[in-house]
Parts: sequence; C-alpha cells; structure tokens
Amino acid sequence: MQADALQVQQVILNLVRNALDAMNAGTGAGAGEPHAVVISARAELKQVEIAVQDSGPGLPPEARDQVLRPFFTTKPDGLGLGLSISQSIVEAHGGRLWATPNAGRGVTFHFTLPVAAPAATPEPVAEALSLDAA
Ligand SMILES: Nc1ncnc2c1ncn2[C@@H]1O[C@H](COP(=O)(O)OP(=O)(O)OP(=O)(O)O)[C@@H](O)[C@H]1O
Ligand SMILES: [Mg+2]
Repeated sequence: MQADALQVQQVILNLVRNALDAMNAGTGAGAGEPHAVVISARAELKQVEIAVQDSGPGLPPEARDQVLRPFFTTKPDGLGLGLSISQSIVEAHGGRLWATPNAGRGVTFHFTLPVAAPAATPEPVAEALSLDAA
C-alpha cells in the first residue's frame, strides 16, 4: 500500500468519531442497547478494504445521498467536513469511500486503497548519489 499513513489514520479516526457520535445520540430505535464499533480490514489482490461498522441509528434515507457533501451536518456543533475530507483523501490515493446500511441497526462506512504494484526495477538511488558526488 502506498499511502500517506497519517492521512489514512485521519480517515479512520473520522469514521470512528462519527460512529461514536451516532451511538451517543441516544435517540431512536435501539437507544440504550449495547453498542459497538467494529473496525475491520480485508486484503484483496489489488486493494485493501477497511470498514467501520456501528450500531447507531443508521443514515436516514433522505440523508444517504448527502452525507458525503461538504458542510452537510445534523450535529449542533458539526462542521460537516469529516466525510467529505475523508472521501477526498481516499480518492486522492486512488480508492473510494461509501456507506452501506447494516442488516440490523447502524451503518457501515467502507473505503478501499489500491495495493501498490511492486517496483519493476530497484530504485537507482546509489547511482544517483554517486553521480552527484562526482
Ligand atoms: N455513522 C454514522 N451514523 C449516522 N449518521 C452519520 C454517521 N456518519 C455520518 N453521519 C451523518 O453524516 C453527517 C456528516 O458527517 P461528517 O463527518 O461529514 O460531518 P460531522 O460529523 O457532522 O461534522 P465534522 O466536520 O465534525 O466531522 C453527520 O452530521 C451525520 O448526520
Ligand atoms: Mg464527522
């Protein structure tokens, strides 16, 4: 995987923070039941897929198309930027980000990152250095 580790951390952190916010909202079906955030990673041939699953209220159908838009928020102190920034980061690395409703409660956000192809030839670093020194 060839990605800026800090940026990928940021994406995961945004998704986990949203999951916790959703489950702490404390209203709607399932409020008061035990909650969990499940983070999983799956390596495939050409990409890795990371998923953050929560057991919150899920996305209302009318919000499903909007949550990735900049400044869409339902939180009193929200900026509505977490998901749009996350999507930009993921897409800048050649992946994509999307949400699926869970079979039970909650929503799962997924993102992929392409696995970097192995370099065909070793980087000619030593050669370049010796040319510089000459
Ligand atoms: N796991 C989730 N469960 C339910 N709703 C969610 C979830 N994640 C995001 N949302 C909805 O999508 C909206 C946009 O999320 P986004 O992360 O972009 O912004 P935000 O969390 O409101 O603010 P911030 O800029 O602080 O991240 C949220 O306000 C919320 O309504
Ligand atoms: Mg957020």
